Amino acid sequence: MEEVDGPDRRVATGAGATRPVALTDVDAASAAPRPTGVAELDRVLAGGLVAGSVTLLSGPPGVGKSTLALQVAAGAGDGVRALYVAAEESVAQVGRRARRLGLAPDDALGVVDDPSIPAIEAAVDAHRPDVLVVDSIQTVHDDTLDSGPGSVTQVRACAQRLAEVARSRGIAVVLIGHVTKDGQIAGPRLLEHLVDTVVTMDADTDPALRFVRATKHRFGAVGELGVFRMEAGGLHGVVDAAGLFLTDRPEGVPGSVVTPTLDGRRVMVAEIQALVTEPGVPASIELAQGIDRTRLGLVVAVTSRVAGLGGRVFASVAGGGRVTEPGADLAVAVALASAATGVPVRADTVVCGEVGLVGEVRRVAMLVERIREAARLGFRRAVVPAGTPAEADGVDVEVVRVGDIATAIDAALGDVASSVPYRAVRHQRGSTGPQGPVRPALVT
Ligand code: TYD
Ligand code: MG
Repeated sequence: MEEVDGPDRRVATGAGATRPVALTDVDAASAAPRPTGVAELDRVLAGGLVAGSVTLLSGPPGVGKSTLALQVAAGAGDGVRALYVAAEESVAQVGRRARRLGLAPDDALGVVDDPSIPAIEAAVDAHRPDVLVVDSIQTVHDDTLDSGPGSVTQVRACAQRLAEVARSRGIAVVLIGHVTKDGQIAGPRLLEHLVDTVVTMDADTDPALRFVRATKHRFGAVGELGVFRMEAGGLHGVVDAAGLFLTDRPEGVPGSVVTPTLDGRRVMVAEIQALVTEPGVPASIELAQGIDRTRLGLVVAVTSRVAGLGGRVFASVAGGGRVTEPGADLAVAVALASAATGVPVRADTVVCGEVGLVGEVRRVAMLVERIREAARLGFRRAVVPAGTPAEADGVDVEVVRVGDIATAIDAALGDVASSVPYRAVRHQRGSTGPQGPVRPALVT
């Protein structure tokens, strides 16, 4: 094995200092993330892995954790050394996997398949890695402990030991942890407080897609989304993910509205679908799929009040997407109005904004970025909050600013030639005033 000359990592981290250290002497660069070489993961990690830290990569079996970790270990980059502890596969299997992934590992990547703590520590001393991957933490054991392998005590103690290895030697440690679908297994859940960063990996309705997020991150924001496609050659980053959920979108159909929503700080353009049955009965929610039920309740209540919506409401995000922020409220309201009136929204229109209790349309985060992404995907018209920054006007779309939900519904549905039923609604409301009782007029 090659000897590494480089800075002594034991000293670099200052671990175990017993004398006070002046903060001005602390090397800020020592906490700087180093890119993993996997750009979508680096986005989630706010730059990459941090030396001396522990990252837990958790997800259900078969989702692609080993694949991702091996891509990180093998692709860590020039001069970066990695050690891959394969507890569930032999060294030969890891080698074959690496070849299948088209990785060209050199001697900067070491692989061992003995998952005992002493063996891992010996391998670390011999190989001196910058990155240590342990696949998986559930299979690591320490024979000096009484508890059996895989037991809660054992898993915890081993993780603690590996965290000490990370800190004392300035190594970025990645622990892989399996979770079952119901999150039951002794493992990841118990480890979350022991580690600096928790990255979760999920599949979705599209069998090839993988979503990666940080749910805990000591060195950056959580919630950032990374998107991958699992292919024959491993995980490939999907840089242009904004339109992923728009496939198979029906056009010119009532109840369908497109909205540029946020997942982390990433714009994902989603299609909201609504269906309203039995329009004569008071509004009630029958289904909320991919949409927060509380927010839907608010939007339904406001839409009933302001635009006379009634009936049984079904609302969902098409294509298996999920909406977790208020920016989609207005699109939900417009989808409900469109479904109730049978008037479609123009296919080139997106709708975005938060709906307040009195029917006002409020600004949301990153409006200009949302409009820009929508424009990039070919949308030509955006119905957005009145407070949308002027910068949006530089984007190649018609920006329609609206201050309240009724104006928004008008703007989104009103210019469609067949919108006679809806115009009738406006007349009725006009006669009772904006806050007056509105009869279930959307149902004409
Ligand atoms: P894996 O990384 O072993 O999952 P985990 O470690 O989370 O259990 O990957 C599991 C699946 O990925 C496996 O069913 C086969 C598939 N796969 C591919 O489609 N392409 C590939 O290049 C690789 C390595 C795996
Ligand atoms: Mg695995």
